[in-house]
Amino acid sequence: MAVVRLELPGPADEGDLGDWAEAARAVLPPDVWGYLQGGAGAERALRANRAAYDRVALLPRFLVDVSAVSPATSVLGVDWAVPFGVAPMAYHRLAHPEGEVATAAAGLGGAFVSSMFASRSFADVAAATTDPRWLQLYWLRNRDALADVVARAEEAGFGALVLTVDAPRVAARPRDSRSAFALPDDVRAVNVDPAVMDAAHTSTAGASAIQVHSRQRFDASITWADLPWLRERTTLPLLLKGILTAHDARLAVEHGVDGVVVSNHGGRQLDAAVPSLDALPAVVAAVPPGYPVLLDGGVRRGSDVFAALALGARAVLIGRPVLWGLAAGGQAGAAAVLALLRDQLEETMILSGRPTIPSIDSTAVTVRPNGWSG
Ligand code: FNR
Ligand code: LAC
Repeated sequence: MAVVRLELPGPADEGDLGDWAEAARAVLPPDVWGYLQGGAGAERALRANRAAYDRVALLPRFLVDVSAVSPATSVLGVDWAVPFGVAPMAYHRLAHPEGEVATAAAGLGGAFVSSMFASRSFADVAAATTDPRWLQLYWLRNRDALADVVARAEEAGFGALVLTVDAPRVAARPRDSRSAFALPDDVRAVNVDPAVMDAAHTSTAGASAIQVHSRQRFDASITWADLPWLRERTTLPLLLKGILTAHDARLAVEHGVDGVVVSNHGGRQLDAAVPSLDALPAVVAAVPPGYPVLLDGGVRRGSDVFAALALGARAVLIGRPVLWGLAAGGQAGAAAVLALLRDQLEETMILSGRPTIPSIDSTAVTVRPNGWSG
């Protein structure tokens, strides 16, 4: 049998947050670390997301007044103190007992996007932060259970829905099948009808319980024609997460969707997918000016945030680094990770003569297909 060796990104690959990755790895059980850090297939998309940032170089302007710098912006008409939020990630209690309450409290004023599979209640998350809170959804076959999750989030004052479209099922992830990853009993999707969640806790040799669960419970038959069903159940704005082509971006606009998140799910779904940063310019070109386009995947430095904004993102979402901080240092650790990104972004803005978010435009970057470091 052929053996595929999978090397998780080491500290050097994870940029300035590599120390946090190392600290998280040291405290987490190996199967949990594999689930957090790993990707689909041969982990090509996971690596490619990082490599994409090496192809971007910044074009600084000088003799600009940068004595005051502001990373503040607005998304869907709501003010964010920083142009980044927390990406939806399932089960933060895998990383730390306080789970989503700690990560929500660690936010710096960008949106906290809760996974529908959050392991703390939406009400507890809402009480932990004044940041904007959004709810991410997978489309469950059981539509009553899906509608119920939406109602709970609305009741807790969440401000937008993010439907993840890149996961008709959870992809095969070699680390998780090898470890037969399953959720421990004390880490549960507490906002979802328990009858819909059973399989996620059932370990089977050679299989990831999360993948098995998704095949049973996610509705792989949904199309654009189903979006009105969701719309009819809520007054909240709706974004689609996982968009990677101009084609789908245009369809999102045509279907009245309020925004898109350009994402390849952090390399956890379609392994041969385009890196999200590379997909961004075509998506931005396909939508009307000012239409909200967010991005996630591989953002590890303040200059990565800057690059994504210059290439047309309204804001970005941070995934794994938030969980590294949470695992290694609880709320304070997650807050330190986000503060480092903010400080680096501010310094990048100062050193490149772009003291406000609107001043970070396409003239601030140049992209070279073969990269800049070689
Ligand atoms: C995720 N992601 C994810 N996305 C989603 O829409 N719903 C979810 O429940 C989850 N769960 C999840 C768990 C874990 C452990 C990870 C690492 C990721 C994907 C996430 O929202 C985001 O797209 C990527 O994590 C972004 O890439 P980086 O920043 O992790 O490189
Ligand atoms: C993941 C699923 C749950 O990425 O979205 O693990």
